[in-house]
Amino acid sequence: MPVDLERRGAVALLTLNQPKVLNALSPSMIEQIEQHLDEIEGAPAARAVVITGAGERAFCAGADIKNMRTASPIEARAFARLGHDLMDRIEGFARPVVAAVNGFALGGGCELALACDIRMAADSARFGQPEITLGIIPGFGGTQRLARTTSLGFAKDLVLTGRMVDAEVALRAGLVTHVHPREELLAKALELAEGLAGGPAWALAETKRLTNLALSGDHARNLANELDTFALAFATPDQREGMDAFLEKRTPSFADIDDSPNDATGETA
Ligand code: HXC
Repeated sequence: MPVDLERRGAVALLTLNQPKVLNALSPSMIEQIEQHLDEIEGAPAARAVVITGAGERAFCAGADIKNMRTASPIEARAFARLGHDLMDRIEGFARPVVAAVNGFALGGGCELALACDIRMAADSARFGQPEITLGIIPGFGGTQRLARTTSLGFAKDLVLTGRMVDAEVALRAGLVTHVHPREELLAKALELAEGLAGGPAWALAETKRLTNLALSGDHARNLANELDTFALAFATPDQREGMDAFLEKRTPSFADIDDSPNDATGETA
């Protein structure tokens, strides 16, 4: 399988599994990730997702250059569209998604990590948007998400020079928020995701949705959206459970995903 899906407790683990080509993304890999996400969406017990790469060297070295080399503009656009749809879906996915960046995250690989909610890197990881060195530009959202996640200056440095940076530089730039020794990375990512999986699913999905709006749209409208959503949280069993558990000095036991009030918001949880 070019992409593996496994369940680890309440976490769905997606592993890009083409290590011979450093997990470079082909259209079929993208389609398979989409299918796995369909499956995860249909499995209420899978409450968080971790994405990582197989092998010792790479999270993902980008889009498959062999596959793209002879593409016409129309084919190139269709491929970029496939990638855009996947990245948008991960960014909007109603469960938290953690990238465990175990090695190279270049081009489309860096863009895949950027679509995730939390990025954790191995100390050996390297990041970059080298498209410019191929005579093209980032095409899976990198011209936008890198700047939004880090800063305009850092993003321009990476996209214009095509240079790679190590995990420590990525940490300082805000491109990742955790760095771990290579051999500990996956366990740490699964631990973090398991913690998220134990959280209140509806509140997590809504917090993600609202936070995604922070750098776009109308500020006042986004704040009004927060106000309404905050009020709606008091219609969920998780609100009462979370507050009761605090006052009773115990760990909260939040509702199953199916119990969340999706219908009340019209949003998927
Ligand atoms: C296809 C790739 C690949 C890629 C690596 N490989 N990256 N194949 N597409 N993106 C293959 C190599 O051809 C090679 O296959 C094998 O993986 C091992 O890679 P090497 O280059 O031999 O390893 P090394 O010398 O250690 O260099 C590692 C590397 C380098 C620095 C990561 O592979 C590299 O620069 N890769 C390309 C990175 C890149 O430019 N990414 C952006 C792609 S464009 P063989 O058969 O020779 O063993 C992109 C656009 C996204 O992502 C938007 C599209 C719409």
